[in-house]
Amino acid sequence: MLDITRIRAETPGCAQVTHFNNAGASLQPRPVLDTVLRHLESEALTGGYEAADAAADRLAGVYDTLARLVGADPGEIAVTENATRAWDTAFYGIDLRPGDRVLTSAGEYGSNAIALLHRARERGIKVEVLPDDEHGQVSVAALAATLGPDVRLIAVNHVPTHDGLVNPVAEIGRLARAAGALYLVDAVQSVGQLDVNVDEIGCDLLSATGRKFLRGPRGIGFLYVRRAVLDRIAPTFLDDRSAEWTGPESYELREDARRFESYERSAALQLGLGAAAEYAMAIGLDVIEHRVTALAAHLRAALAEVPGVTVRDRGTRRSGIVTFTREGHDAAGIVASLARQKINVRLSEQTYRYDEGATPPPRVRASVHYYNTEEEISRLIGAL
Ligand SMILES: Cc1ncc(COP(=O)(O)O)c(C=O)c1O
Repeated sequence: MLDITRIRAETPGCAQVTHFNNAGASLQPRPVLDTVLRHLESEALTGGYEAADAAADRLAGVYDTLARLVGADPGEIAVTENATRAWDTAFYGIDLRPGDRVLTSAGEYGSNAIALLHRARERGIKVEVLPDDEHGQVSVAALAATLGPDVRLIAVNHVPTHDGLVNPVAEIGRLARAAGALYLVDAVQSVGQLDVNVDEIGCDLLSATGRKFLRGPRGIGFLYVRRAVLDRIAPTFLDDRSAEWTGPESYELREDARRFESYERSAALQLGLGAAAEYAMAIGLDVIEHRVTALAAHLRAALAEVPGVTVRDRGTRRSGIVTFTREGHDAAGIVASLARQKINVRLSEQTYRYDEGATPPPRVRASVHYYNTEEEISRLIGAL
């Protein structure tokens, strides 16, 4: 059972705003905020290196925590500056050759899509977009039909940014494994709201961020690299964290996924990311997933009752991301008007560059988290 009163009391932002922009960045709970602030203070008062030395055990513990969060081994986790860097680190590290096929989803995140195009131009890889099924999710049937030995990589997202659906990542994983293709999952919008497990998904690589449903700080993310594929991903940059300088003409790569990290990073943010993952696991990711899914369903049902509102989410399985339009009102105007009432939602207006004709109209995105309440949903509906 969730103690919503306690959870909200531990979330200072809940007293300030009605926050339905958890797909942008969630409100941090007090233990996360305190962890970050305490470390910054310790840096200011005792020195940055000395503060890191004093926190060495806790910094090392962040890897165990993140590994537990996604069902990995601590040596399979690299902490990165954000999720895009995590995804890029994995993607650009794959030795893709001209003619290699890379399969992706129509609703792929813009930065990932640009990186795919970049590699297509530079290396002559073939990027192929998997069609959506009739529910808007990545079509597993189309994937099965197109998979072949020339498919080197399948790169899809678990939960897209602009739609309430959840992609069938485990089914995709089974097909990827059978075909021997590398499998990279963008789990930026799912980690922290769904019970994500890398073995259940069957992915080789997975990227995640701190600030969204995990309720961590901004400017930090992580990458999971399955140990079996570690040597198939070449680090793009090396420094003396990722490798050891062993002689005038030699160096040795680190044994674990930390070979993908940079030496200089924010210790405060690393600790904050760890605290956020601990906080989520103390509540239970299964409990969180259940509550988020139920609140989002409640919000969709309430929205459907508002005159002129159309809920735009697709998918048979849905997440905490809810998108809608309202006849006679532009989405940007709704967002601005709600902001004046201290209700945070977001404008969602991604163009589907792969198929511009399929681009939906600008929508309002209201993304719920477990700390939101039915009363807050009523407030949003009343304001609409
Ligand atoms: C699906 C998805 N992937 C990747 C990202 C990028 O994450 P980050 O900003 O941490 O690099 C986002 C951010 O909105 C996202 O929604």
